[in-house]
Amino acid sequence: MSRLKDKVAIVTGGAGGIGAASAQRFVEEGARVLMVDRDEAALARAAAQIGAAASSFVADVSDERQVDAYTQAAVERYGGLDVVLLNAGTFGVLSSIEDYSVQAWDRVVAVNLRGAWLGLRAAIPHLRRRGGGSIIVTSSIQGFSAFPNSSPYTCTKHAVVGMMRNAALELARDNIRVNTVHPGLTDTDMMGYLHRTAAPGAPQAAMDAFAKTAPMRRYAQPREIANMMLFLASDEASYCSGACYVVDGALTASWAPTPD
Ligand SMILES: NC(=O)c1ccc[n+]([C@@H]2O[C@H](COP(=O)([O-])OP(=O)(O)OC[C@H]3O[C@@H](n4cnc5c(N)ncnc54)[C@H](O)[C@@H]3O)[C@@H](O)[C@H]2O)c1
Repeated sequence: MSRLKDKVAIVTGGAGGIGAASAQRFVEEGARVLMVDRDEAALARAAAQIGAAASSFVADVSDERQVDAYTQAAVERYGGLDVVLLNAGTFGVLSSIEDYSVQAWDRVVAVNLRGAWLGLRAAIPHLRRRGGGSIIVTSSIQGFSAFPNSSPYTCTKHAVVGMMRNAALELARDNIRVNTVHPGLTDTDMMGYLHRTAAPGAPQAAMDAFAKTAPMRRYAQPREIANMMLFLASDEASYCSGACYVVDGALTASWAPTPD
Protein backbone atom coordinates (compact mmCIF):
# COMPACT_ATOMS: atom_id res chain seq x y z
CA MET A 1 0.00 0.00 0.00
CA SER A 2 2.87 2.42 0.51
CA ARG A 3 5.62 1.60 -1.95
CA LEU A 4 5.26 5.13 -3.41
CA LYS A 5 4.23 6.95 -0.25
CA ASP A 6 4.71 10.73 -0.60
CA LYS A 7 5.91 10.41 -4.20
CA VAL A 8 4.70 12.53 -7.08
CA ALA A 9 4.53 10.94 -10.53
CA ILE A 10 3.79 11.96 -14.09
CA VAL A 11 2.34 9.34 -16.43
CA THR A 12 2.06 10.24 -20.11
CA GLY A 13 -0.34 8.35 -22.33
CA GLY A 14 -2.47 8.11 -19.22
CA ALA A 15 -5.87 8.01 -20.91
CA GLY A 16 -5.96 4.25 -21.28
CA GLY A 17 -4.09 0.99 -21.56
CA ILE A 18 -0.72 0.69 -19.87
CA GLY A 19 -0.62 4.36 -18.82
CA ALA A 20 -3.97 4.32 -17.01
CA ALA A 21 -3.14 0.99 -15.34
CA SER A 22 0.22 2.38 -14.19
CA ALA A 23 -1.35 5.54 -12.79
CA GLN A 24 -3.82 3.31 -10.93
CA ARG A 25 -1.01 1.14 -9.47
CA PHE A 26 1.01 4.22 -8.46
CA VAL A 27 -1.99 5.69 -6.63
CA GLU A 28 -2.75 2.36 -4.93
CA GLU A 29 0.78 2.54 -3.50
CA GLY A 30 0.46 6.07 -2.17
CA ALA A 31 1.58 8.36 -5.02
CA ARG A 32 -0.13 11.43 -6.39
CA VAL A 33 -0.17 11.29 -10.16
CA LEU A 34 -0.50 13.78 -12.99
CA MET A 35 -1.93 11.91 -15.95
CA VAL A 36 -1.10 13.41 -19.36
CA ASP A 37 -2.68 12.64 -22.71
CA ARG A 38 -3.90 14.40 -25.82
CA ASP A 39 -7.26 12.56 -25.71
CA GLU A 40 -9.13 14.93 -23.40
CA ALA A 41 -12.34 12.94 -22.92
CA ALA A 42 -10.69 9.58 -22.30
CA LEU A 43 -8.14 11.21 -19.99
CA ALA A 44 -10.84 12.86 -17.88
CA ARG A 45 -12.64 9.50 -17.57
CA ALA A 46 -9.45 7.65 -16.60
CA ALA A 47 -8.45 10.23 -13.98
CA ALA A 48 -11.96 10.32 -12.48
CA GLN A 49 -11.95 6.54 -12.19
CA ILE A 50 -8.72 6.62 -10.18
CA GLY A 51 -9.95 9.30 -7.79
CA ALA A 52 -8.67 12.30 -5.88
CA ALA A 53 -4.97 11.34 -5.90
CA ALA A 54 -4.88 11.67 -9.70
CA SER A 55 -5.43 14.69 -11.88
CA SER A 56 -5.23 15.26 -15.60
CA PHE A 57 -3.39 17.55 -17.99
CA VAL A 58 -4.18 17.61 -21.70
CA ALA A 59 -1.02 17.88 -23.80
CA ASP A 60 0.62 16.65 -26.97
CA VAL A 61 3.92 15.13 -25.84
CA SER A 62 5.63 16.00 -29.13
CA ASP A 63 5.34 19.73 -28.41
CA GLU A 64 8.14 21.27 -26.35
CA ARG A 65 6.01 23.97 -24.72
CA GLN A 66 3.26 21.54 -23.80
CA VAL A 67 5.80 19.15 -22.26
CA ASP A 68 7.31 21.94 -20.18
CA ALA A 69 3.77 22.95 -19.16
CA TYR A 70 2.72 19.48 -17.96
CA THR A 71 5.98 19.07 -16.05
CA GLN A 72 5.53 22.45 -14.37
CA ALA A 73 1.90 21.62 -13.60
CA ALA A 74 2.90 18.47 -11.70
CA VAL A 75 5.39 20.43 -9.60
CA GLU A 76 2.90 23.23 -8.91
CA ARG A 77 0.00 20.92 -8.07
CA TYR A 78 1.93 18.47 -5.90
CA GLY A 79 5.03 20.36 -4.71
CA GLY A 80 7.74 18.37 -6.53
CA LEU A 81 8.42 15.44 -8.81
CA ASP A 82 9.87 11.96 -8.15
CA VAL A 83 8.76 9.61 -10.92
CA VAL A 84 8.21 10.15 -14.65
CA LEU A 85 6.70 7.43 -16.82
CA LEU A 86 7.12 8.46 -20.47
CA ASN A 87 4.59 6.10 -21.96
CA ALA A 88 2.62 7.99 -24.62
CA GLY A 89 3.11 6.35 -27.97
CA THR A 90 1.72 5.82 -31.41
CA PHE A 91 2.06 2.76 -33.63
CA GLY A 92 1.75 4.84 -36.80
CA VAL A 93 0.21 3.15 -39.81
CA LEU A 94 0.76 -0.37 -41.10
CA SER A 95 2.78 0.20 -44.25
CA SER A 96 5.87 -1.08 -46.00
CA ILE A 97 9.03 1.03 -45.94
CA GLU A 98 8.55 1.84 -49.63
CA ASP A 99 5.04 3.15 -49.07
CA TYR A 100 5.56 4.92 -45.75
CA SER A 101 5.05 8.65 -46.21
CA VAL A 102 7.61 11.05 -44.76
CA GLN A 103 4.82 12.85 -42.95
CA ALA A 104 3.60 9.66 -41.24
CA TRP A 105 7.21 8.70 -40.39
CA ASP A 106 7.86 12.13 -38.84
CA ARG A 107 4.75 11.87 -36.68
CA VAL A 108 5.79 8.54 -35.13
CA VAL A 109 9.29 9.88 -34.46
CA ALA A 110 7.88 13.11 -33.00
CA VAL A 111 5.64 11.30 -30.52
CA ASN A 112 7.67 8.22 -29.58
CA LEU A 113 11.20 9.63 -29.62
CA ARG A 114 11.12 13.43 -29.40
CA GLY A 115 8.20 13.21 -26.96
CA ALA A 116 10.13 10.92 -24.63
CA TRP A 117 13.29 13.02 -24.91
CA LEU A 118 11.41 16.24 -24.17
CA GLY A 119 9.73 14.68 -21.15
CA LEU A 120 13.01 13.32 -19.84
CA ARG A 121 14.79 16.63 -20.33
CA ALA A 122 12.07 18.66 -18.64
CA ALA A 123 11.98 16.38 -15.59
CA ILE A 124 15.70 16.43 -14.77
CA PRO A 125 15.98 19.67 -12.75
CA HIS A 126 12.91 18.78 -10.69
CA LEU A 127 14.14 15.27 -9.88
CA ARG A 128 17.55 16.65 -8.99
CA ARG A 129 15.91 19.07 -6.56
CA ARG A 130 14.35 16.08 -4.75
CA GLY A 131 17.73 14.35 -4.47
CA GLY A 132 16.93 11.75 -7.13
CA GLY A 133 14.10 9.95 -8.85
CA SER A 134 13.04 7.42 -11.44
CA ILE A 135 12.44 7.91 -15.17
CA ILE A 136 10.83 5.04 -17.04
CA VAL A 137 10.33 4.97 -20.81
CA THR A 138 7.88 2.55 -22.39
CA SER A 139 9.67 0.87 -25.26
CA SER A 140 8.42 -2.44 -26.69
CA ILE A 141 9.61 -5.86 -27.77
CA GLN A 142 10.01 -3.88 -31.00
CA GLY A 143 12.87 -2.18 -29.15
CA PHE A 144 14.82 -5.42 -29.75
CA SER A 145 13.21 -6.95 -32.80
CA ALA A 146 10.97 -5.99 -35.69
CA PHE A 147 7.44 -6.53 -36.93
CA PRO A 148 6.75 -6.01 -40.64
CA ASN A 149 5.26 -2.77 -41.94
CA SER A 150 5.96 -0.70 -38.84
CA SER A 151 9.47 0.62 -39.48
CA PRO A 152 9.21 3.98 -37.64
CA TYR A 153 7.70 2.24 -34.62
CA THR A 154 10.58 -0.26 -34.56
CA CYS A 155 13.15 2.51 -35.05
CA THR A 156 11.77 4.72 -32.29
CA LYS A 157 11.39 1.86 -29.82
CA HIS A 158 15.06 0.95 -30.43
CA ALA A 159 16.09 4.60 -30.21
CA VAL A 160 14.61 5.19 -26.76
CA VAL A 161 16.92 2.44 -25.48
CA GLY A 162 19.91 4.51 -26.56
CA MET A 163 18.37 7.61 -25.05
CA MET A 164 17.74 5.76 -21.79
CA ARG A 165 21.34 4.53 -21.62
CA ASN A 166 22.75 8.00 -22.23
CA ALA A 167 20.50 9.51 -19.59
CA ALA A 168 21.31 6.77 -17.08
CA LEU A 169 25.03 7.56 -17.41
CA GLU A 170 24.58 11.31 -17.25
CA LEU A 171 22.23 11.20 -14.25
CA ALA A 172 23.65 8.36 -12.14
CA ARG A 173 25.43 10.65 -9.72
CA ASP A 174 22.26 12.65 -9.24
CA ASN A 175 20.61 9.43 -8.05
CA ILE A 176 18.21 9.63 -10.99
CA ARG A 177 17.55 6.14 -12.34
CA VAL A 178 16.52 5.70 -15.99
CA ASN A 179 15.18 2.46 -17.49
CA THR A 180 13.06 1.16 -20.35
CA VAL A 181 10.19 -1.31 -20.10
CA HIS A 182 9.49 -3.60 -23.05
CA PRO A 183 5.94 -4.95 -23.07
CA GLY A 184 4.95 -7.81 -25.33
CA LEU A 185 1.43 -8.26 -26.69
CA THR A 186 -0.79 -6.27 -24.36
CA ASP A 187 -4.57 -5.93 -24.51
CA THR A 188 -4.99 -2.19 -25.20
CA ASP A 189 -6.41 0.14 -27.85
CA MET A 190 -3.08 0.14 -29.67
CA MET A 191 -3.35 -3.58 -30.38
CA GLY A 192 -7.02 -3.05 -31.21
CA TYR A 193 -5.91 -0.81 -34.07
CA LEU A 194 -3.57 -3.55 -35.32
CA HIS A 195 -6.30 -6.20 -35.15
CA ARG A 196 -8.77 -4.04 -37.09
CA THR A 197 -6.18 -3.16 -39.72
CA ALA A 198 -4.64 -6.59 -40.12
CA ALA A 199 -8.04 -8.32 -40.32
CA PRO A 200 -10.84 -5.87 -41.19
CA GLY A 201 -14.14 -7.28 -39.98
CA ALA A 202 -12.51 -10.02 -37.89
CA PRO A 203 -10.46 -8.33 -35.16
CA GLN A 204 -10.99 -11.17 -32.67
CA ALA A 205 -9.52 -13.65 -35.16
CA ALA A 206 -6.46 -11.42 -35.53
CA MET A 207 -6.09 -11.20 -31.76
CA ASP A 208 -6.38 -14.99 -31.41
CA ALA A 209 -3.75 -15.47 -34.12
CA PHE A 210 -1.32 -13.06 -32.41
CA ALA A 211 -1.96 -14.70 -29.03
CA LYS A 212 -1.00 -18.08 -30.51
CA THR A 213 2.48 -16.74 -31.29
CA ALA A 214 3.07 -16.16 -27.57
CA PRO A 215 4.38 -19.05 -25.44
CA MET A 216 1.73 -18.25 -22.82
CA ARG A 217 -0.92 -18.19 -25.56
CA ARG A 218 -2.43 -14.98 -24.28
CA TYR A 219 -2.01 -11.22 -24.15
CA ALA A 220 -0.83 -9.38 -21.07
CA GLN A 221 -3.34 -7.29 -19.21
CA PRO A 222 -2.17 -3.67 -18.80
CA ARG A 223 -1.88 -4.18 -15.05
CA GLU A 224 0.76 -6.88 -15.58
CA ILE A 225 2.93 -4.27 -17.33
CA ALA A 226 2.04 -1.64 -14.73
CA ASN A 227 3.46 -3.89 -12.00
CA MET A 228 6.91 -3.54 -13.61
CA MET A 229 6.45 0.23 -13.86
CA LEU A 230 5.65 0.26 -10.15
CA PHE A 231 8.74 -1.74 -9.25
CA LEU A 232 11.03 0.58 -11.22
CA ALA A 233 9.31 3.66 -9.78
CA SER A 234 9.75 2.44 -6.21
CA ASP A 235 12.78 2.46 -3.93
CA GLU A 236 12.90 -1.35 -4.25
CA ALA A 237 14.63 -0.66 -7.58
CA SER A 238 17.26 1.57 -5.94
CA TYR A 239 20.19 -0.04 -7.84
CA CYS A 240 18.33 -0.52 -11.13
CA SER A 241 19.38 1.94 -13.81
CA GLY A 242 20.45 1.91 -17.42
CA ALA A 243 18.65 -1.33 -18.26
CA CYS A 244 15.84 -2.88 -20.28
CA TYR A 245 13.04 -4.74 -18.49
CA VAL A 246 11.10 -7.15 -20.69
CA VAL A 247 7.53 -8.15 -19.75
CA ASP A 248 6.48 -10.37 -22.64
CA GLY A 249 5.47 -13.80 -21.33
CA ALA A 250 8.59 -15.33 -22.96
CA LEU A 251 7.68 -14.11 -26.44
CA THR A 252 11.17 -12.88 -27.32
CA ALA A 253 12.79 -15.95 -25.75
CA SER A 254 11.73 -17.93 -28.80
CA TRP A 255 12.77 -17.51 -32.46
CA ALA A 256 9.54 -19.14 -33.69
CA PRO A 257 6.08 -19.85 -32.29
CA THR A 258 6.29 -22.61 -29.70
CA PRO A 259 4.50 -25.82 -30.75
CA ASP A 260 1.25 -26.82 -29.01
N1 LIG B 1 -0.21 -2.70 -26.39
C1 LIG B 1 0.92 -3.33 -26.68
O1 LIG B 1 0.90 -4.50 -27.07
C2 LIG B 1 2.25 -2.62 -26.51
C3 LIG B 1 3.40 -3.39 -26.65
C4 LIG B 1 4.63 -2.77 -26.49
C5 LIG B 1 4.71 -1.42 -26.20
N2 LIG B 1 3.57 -0.70 -26.07
C6 LIG B 1 3.73 0.73 -25.75
O2 LIG B 1 2.99 1.02 -24.59
C7 LIG B 1 2.69 2.41 -24.57
C8 LIG B 1 1.24 2.59 -24.19
O3 LIG B 1 0.43 2.07 -25.23
P1 LIG B 1 -0.89 1.21 -24.95
O4 LIG B 1 -0.64 -0.14 -25.46
O5 LIG B 1 -1.33 1.39 -23.55
O6 LIG B 1 -1.91 1.85 -26.00
P2 LIG B 1 -2.96 3.04 -25.85
O7 LIG B 1 -3.30 3.40 -27.25
O8 LIG B 1 -4.04 2.64 -24.93
O9 LIG B 1 -2.13 4.20 -25.14
C9 LIG B 1 -1.35 5.15 -25.81
C10 LIG B 1 -1.77 6.51 -25.29
O10 LIG B 1 -0.87 7.50 -25.79
C11 LIG B 1 -1.63 8.64 -26.13
N3 LIG B 1 -0.91 9.46 -27.08
C12 LIG B 1 -0.58 9.13 -28.36
N4 LIG B 1 0.05 10.15 -28.96
C13 LIG B 1 0.11 11.16 -28.02
C14 LIG B 1 0.64 12.47 -28.03
N5 LIG B 1 1.22 12.98 -29.12
N6 LIG B 1 0.54 13.21 -26.91
C15 LIG B 1 -0.07 12.71 -25.81
N7 LIG B 1 -0.60 11.47 -25.75
C16 LIG B 1 -0.50 10.71 -26.84
C17 LIG B 1 -2.93 8.07 -26.69
O11 LIG B 1 -3.97 9.03 -26.70
C18 LIG B 1 -3.19 6.90 -25.77
O12 LIG B 1 -3.98 7.26 -24.65
C19 LIG B 1 3.06 2.95 -25.94
O13 LIG B 1 4.30 3.63 -25.87
C20 LIG B 1 3.19 1.69 -26.77
O14 LIG B 1 4.07 1.87 -27.85
C21 LIG B 1 2.34 -1.27 -26.21
